[in-house]
Amino acid sequence: MNILLLGSGGREHALAHKMLQSPLCNTLFVAPGNAGTAAIANNVNISPTDFEAVKKLALQENINMVVVGPEDPLVKGVYDFFKNDAQISNIPVIGPSQYGAQLEGSKEFAKKFLVKNNIPTAAYESFTKETVEQGCKFLETLKAPYVLKADGLAAGKGVLILQDLAEAQQELRNMLVDEKFGQASTKVVIEEFLDGIELSCFVLTDGKSYKLLPTAKDYKRIGEGDKGLNTGGMGAVSPVPFADAEFMQKIEERIVKPTIQGFVNDNIDYKGFVFIGLIKVGNDPFVIEYNVRMGDPETEVVIPRLKSDLVEVFNAMANQTLDTVDFEIDSRSAATVMLVSGGYPEDYEKGKVITGLDAVEGSIVFHAGTTLSGTDAVTSGGRVLAVTSYGEDFKEAIKKSYQNIDKLHFDKMYYRKDIGFDL
Ligand code: AMP
Ligand code: GLY
Repeated sequence: MNILLLGSGGREHALAHKMLQSPLCNTLFVAPGNAGTAAIANNVNISPTDFEAVKKLALQENINMVVVGPEDPLVKGVYDFFKNDAQISNIPVIGPSQYGAQLEGSKEFAKKFLVKNNIPTAAYESFTKETVEQGCKFLETLKAPYVLKADGLAAGKGVLILQDLAEAQQELRNMLVDEKFGQASTKVVIEEFLDGIELSCFVLTDGKSYKLLPTAKDYKRIGEGDKGLNTGGMGAVSPVPFADAEFMQKIEERIVKPTIQGFVNDNIDYKGFVFIGLIKVGNDPFVIEYNVRMGDPETEVVIPRLKSDLVEVFNAMANQTLDTVDFEIDSRSAATVMLVSGGYPEDYEKGKVITGLDAVEGSIVFHAGTTLSGTDAVTSGGRVLAVTSYGEDFKEAIKKSYQNIDKLHFDKMYYRKDIGFDL
């Protein structure tokens, strides 16, 4: 098969690396990819949201399957674009329909879906510009901290957690009246605060049945001890040690099964990944968000633990025969540490030459924000490399990653030295 993968991050390098292990994969194209995917596949410099260009490439290269990494093309309807065009409707797209992608694209849609399917989640109300004063009154009925969520995609910045009532009311006005997050905050979800430890669960579905991928926990803050600004993720471990068999059963029965049944009941066309963000409150799991793609850097620890052929699994998803496929998970732990550009998640410099890649032993280096300059890999983004290792437990895996990180260098490189500290 000729496969086209859309995206350019560490997630995509990890997916490319795995798909290339499949005997079913002939030629892999990545659009636009990075220096890591350039070394193993064919990068094509087109944007994943330029659907006409994606179509042209698919026809030119006889593509047999499109795998979508990031949420943007899904929320913009790449699945439906293929399905509704007779020239390309025979090419399966791994990802949900545009309707299903609202689970990530609209917080309100996700909350309605959760409530309708009796899936445990924080109590909520949603408000618009017209009902902003009711929103302020609703906040008075809640206890601090106050959780405000812009309805739409806001590049990971749309959730505010505030201690002070007056500040929360002011921020609600900023979001609804002053369009703090533009279109994304024309609606705002106000939610009950859930106090607990976070983890994520990953599911593959063909819209009828599902397979559970390993759990993971990511570290979102830039600073050690989970301090400082939010980032896309500074590291991750899989599995999550506190998610024991009993807790996993609760996740599967109370959350995963009703989610897939909800797709069936509502005719949601969904052949893709479901990434469920959870909080463990006491001993019970609650959903804080759905994403309709894999996480980054979670992919860099979850996918290396899949022993089965990912392309075969994707084929089964496209054909709705996922229940018949072989699905085996590696019992070892995996951990990844992100190396980022100094200054990230605020301003940072690009174009720094990366050295030491050839010296790494016993870890896998997935490229994120990198590009080729001549024959050199140079930095081109905030998150630059994800260094993944296996171990008997997460501590052993993390130790190996840190040992290899000592061999890697670029100017102003930064990373957290405490991934897994809270486990
Ligand atoms: P979200 O984009 O919905 O995942 O929210 C971003 C982050 O805000 C989450 O990863 C949590 O750390 C936090 N968060 C979101 N909703 C809640 C909630 N109801 N209670 C506590 N923390 C929350
Ligand atoms: N690491 C969080 C995400 O991919 O959304």
